[in-house]
Amino acid sequence: METLIIDGKKIAEEIKLEVANETKSFHNACLVTPGLAVVLVGDDPASSVYVRNKQKSAIASGMKSQTINLPSTVREQDLLNIIENLNLSNEIHGILVQLPLPSHISEEKIVQKIDPIKDVDGLHPFNSGLLSAGTPRFIPATPAGIRELLLRNDLDPDGKHVAILGRSNIVGRPLANLLSMKSIGGNATVSLCHSRTNNLKNITTTADIIIAAIGIPNFLTEDMVKENVVIIDVGINRIESTSHKRGYRLVGDVEFEKVKLKSKAITPVPGGVGPMTIAMLLSNTLLAAKLQCA
Ligand code: GUN
Repeated sequence: METLIIDGKKIAEEIKLEVANETKSFHNACLVTPGLAVVLVGDDPASSVYVRNKQKSAIASGMKSQTINLPSTVREQDLLNIIENLNLSNEIHGILVQLPLPSHISEEKIVQKIDPIKDVDGLHPFNSGLLSAGTPRFIPATPAGIRELLLRNDLDPDGKHVAILGRSNIVGRPLANLLSMKSIGGNATVSLCHSRTNNLKNITTTADIIIAAIGIPNFLTEDMVKENVVIIDVGINRIESTSHKRGYRLVGDVEFEKVKLKSKAITPVPGGVGPMTIAMLLSNTLLAAKLQCA
């Protein structure tokens, strides 16, 4: 059977169109334009690209977007003050501080400063708590995008063994909560694997769905997966390449060409999970505006 290459770009476009239409109806009914603020500290090239894409997509969906660029030397207290102002702004309904932050700034403090009702990243403990209680409000964008990719490709995780590689607060941990929830797109049996997991291969070779989110290029190899597995590759790793004009190429956490041959379905990098993250962020921003204008 031919392997399905999951087209994240196409599904993300569908969702963005849905969000744009809903944004228009919401605006007509409530005279409010959803506003997203994205804060970027420093000039990491990958983060700069992500932030630009978020801003462009927000505007294309009929939202207002404000990007705040700060030098990598910004003081933690100054960043906290900026978030406080965004918390108080009537025009801003969603706030996202691009991670990672420079080492002199506490990510925990920054995330906890964001008003939970504007926390479109879903990383504030109030929102991660709601998700782990099974009553989510803002679901972090990447996990939400992965659930959509599975559902919209007839790959419902219900009853399946899902191995998640990586226990980050942005992807692995909320994804484990989401896919094990008693609800549509949930009901999976989840193994949350990480750098201290013993006998990883024993787990991955029994998994029906493997989601790799560890940031190590080509980590998941063909000997680690069973036939007919579904593979979701969250990794976006830059590898030096002289044959590319920009000097690098993007690879995921999965050895794509070989693992593909054993897979029922697999996401490419780029064009898989990445575009979905932006679409779900916009969906969360619309939800934030609705909650604040109710
Ligand atoms: N850096 C990489 N992914 C993300 C994300 O989803 N949210 C934030 N805030 N930073 C990120």
